[in-house]
Amino acid sequence: MGLNAVDMVVESRAGRRESLAALIAAQVPGHSLSQCFYNDPGIFERDMERMVLGHWHCAGHASSVANPGDFFTIEIGRESVIIVRGKDNQLRALLNVCRHRGSRVCTEQAGSTRGGFVCPYHAWFYDTDGQLKVARQFPEGSSRDDYGLKQVHLEVIEGLVFICFAAVPPGLGHLRRALAAGVGQYGWKDARVAHRQSYTIDANWKLVLENYWECYHCSPAHVEFSRAHATARSLHGDPELIERMTAKAAAMGITFEEMDHLAPLNAPGEEPADCYRSPLEADCVTGSEDGKPLAPLMGRFTGYDGGVTFNDCGPTSNFLAYPDHGMMYRFMPRSVDRTDMEVIWLVRGDAVEAVDYQLDRLTWLWHVTSLADKRIIDLNQQGVSSAYYQPGPYTEMECWTQRFVEWYLAEIS
Ligand code: FES
Ligand code: FE
Repeated sequence: MGLNAVDMVVESRAGRRESLAALIAAQVPGHSLSQCFYNDPGIFERDMERMVLGHWHCAGHASSVANPGDFFTIEIGRESVIIVRGKDNQLRALLNVCRHRGSRVCTEQAGSTRGGFVCPYHAWFYDTDGQLKVARQFPEGSSRDDYGLKQVHLEVIEGLVFICFAAVPPGLGHLRRALAAGVGQYGWKDARVAHRQSYTIDANWKLVLENYWECYHCSPAHVEFSRAHATARSLHGDPELIERMTAKAAAMGITFEEMDHLAPLNAPGEEPADCYRSPLEADCVTGSEDGKPLAPLMGRFTGYDGGVTFNDCGPTSNFLAYPDHGMMYRFMPRSVDRTDMEVIWLVRGDAVEAVDYQLDRLTWLWHVTSLADKRIIDLNQQGVSSAYYQPGPYTEMECWTQRFVEWYLAEIS
């Protein structure tokens, strides 16, 4: 197996060599991808180059780095990035690669530093803005100014921290509009992180995203989710519930500009993003075990509208907002058959745990749902890796997954 970077040849398990272009052309429209797209290390490298390094990704919520010196690290593929608020109050994305001989510098997942970061290898010391401050026996004639930690692009939109590795990143106008139309109305910029949890999925990242983009699996795999979310029943939702949700939001002065979710990924030169609404079942007001409220109302909401709002941004960042809490999904490809899925629960910025909400109640639904997703996606990879796997047809309820796959093929072409 492997992809030659020059002639882009993929060698199949059976020893057949085919160009990537020929493989893409051979994909059957409306069907899942051929096996090599899910298990070939060379194609994974191409995915990293085009889909990961070339796009914006949500790294977390700004409330996790509220004060100077606060930081957290994230891992994407082979890259590690330190998101840190400098002493100058600026948020930066520093590459976690020492400028001496390349060691990881920061080994903690999150924390707060008064000084900066000390490399564990030979103790070069970097300030919170990435500048190299101390390096013992630093070579004469060289300048420490030339050896600061490298940075990647960082933008905060509606409280969400986005980073991009590309020299010239995709535009963010479309994404900003989508988030303002969606999570912006739920006051996410003033929210705070109530809980974050990481799930390691033993599958190619595209299987994880294909799963996220469809609810065909919801009724068999997510009994708990399906109890509250009408989207588990049909693609277009129940017209009566949609009408009720729209009217209730309008009565609070809230209207939504939905951005076409069948074509969310179609703004040339711009990072793709969408915004769409979905009703909850009639006896439910939020995404909880019993459909009852979980936490203080957020943003512009003065009551419950019986709906949930989705925003999907770029290839790996997906969000959903209820009137009383928010869910962030971050999908981080790590290797050809391993993906980290981080789930972050948001509440209103002034909400106090055990007073305004109970953490176990808040996290129950999306924890059991995420565990179930891990199970079905792991099984999906196992089957896709079989010599007998053959791409099968997407159903109508998988139309967004189909759209995602079509966009992916265009991006890696
Ligand atoms: Fe970091 Fe040497 S590799 S100080
Ligand atoms: Fe699921």
